[in-house]
Amino acid sequence: MTLTIIGAGAMAKAMANGLKDRYTLEFVVRDIKKNSYLKDEFLVDVFELKEFDITDKNIILAVKPYALNDVATNIKGKAKTIYSVLAGTTIESLKENISAKNYIRVMPNVSAKFQASTSVITGDKSKKDESLEIFSAIGDTFWVDSQKEIDIATAVAGSGPALLTLVAEAMMDGLVKEGMKRVDAISITNSLFKGFAPLIASAHPALIKDSVMSPAGTTAAAYGALEEGAVRSSFIKAIGEAFKVTQR
Ligand SMILES: NC(=O)c1ccc[n+]([C@@H]2O[C@H](COP(=O)([O-])OP(=O)(O)OC[C@H]3O[C@@H](n4cnc5c(N)ncnc54)[C@H](OP(=O)(O)O)[C@@H]3O)[C@@H](O)[C@H]2O)c1
Repeated sequence: MTLTIIGAGAMAKAMANGLKDRYTLEFVVRDIKKNSYLKDEFLVDVFELKEFDITDKNIILAVKPYALNDVATNIKGKAKTIYSVLAGTTIESLKENISAKNYIRVMPNVSAKFQASTSVITGDKSKKDESLEIFSAIGDTFWVDSQKEIDIATAVAGSGPALLTLVAEAMMDGLVKEGMKRVDAISITNSLFKGFAPLIASAHPALIKDSVMSPAGTTAAAYGALEEGAVRSSFIKAIGEAFKVTQR
């Protein structure tokens, strides 16, 4: 199968990294000159957006949400399937702009670059299996039954890496503040994130926390400071704020 990626930004390239081993890819961009390097990087054909014919193609739409209308006015034809990663852009809005037989929304994240995306997917049920198969090339996939759910999931699936960078950077700064060398603070925190993935998958978060928190110990003291700083409610609010943006 050939996948046609429209857009060549951070997300398009992160996905291409994982997809290129399983699929033939081609890129469609508005500025061929600026993006000609894609030919060598991904060994793909690169086409200009203007007048591009999407007829019977499987399209991965990866431009900014505000560019949808612009893209629609440049392309022609009716695609087989549109796989859109545009945050907060509904299937109804995709249908109004781009002609296709099937429409799927996907919310991946930049860890796709390492085949470690968390991709939440919804849309035409007839394309459920195919879309889960395609996006499994860039990491874990999760089908949800409604657009509301993919919008809710956006804060974690799509924005999650950015939210966790805040946690990681704050931990690094805390280590440095108490006197550690920056280089060590970075390595130690990075190692924590690496080791945490299998741990969190093995048990409920509360059980992990209880198992390491001794009475009047270091973890209890640190945990208390986070609760005082309203970190828990800030994260819950953050997910709500991201959801609000998808509903604008
Ligand atoms: N980044 C993430 O973590 C993430 C996660 C999940 C979903 N997404 C979604 O992925 C999409 C792309 O995000 P990104 O982070 O990859 O953005 P980005 O790095 O800024 O790339 C945006 C791409 O859209 C193209 N574009 C912008 N305006 C255009 C127009 N009018 N006509 C044609 N092409 C246009 C840009 O082309 P030029 O280079 O010519 O400007 C560029 O290739 C967004 O819809 C976003 O919601 C992103």
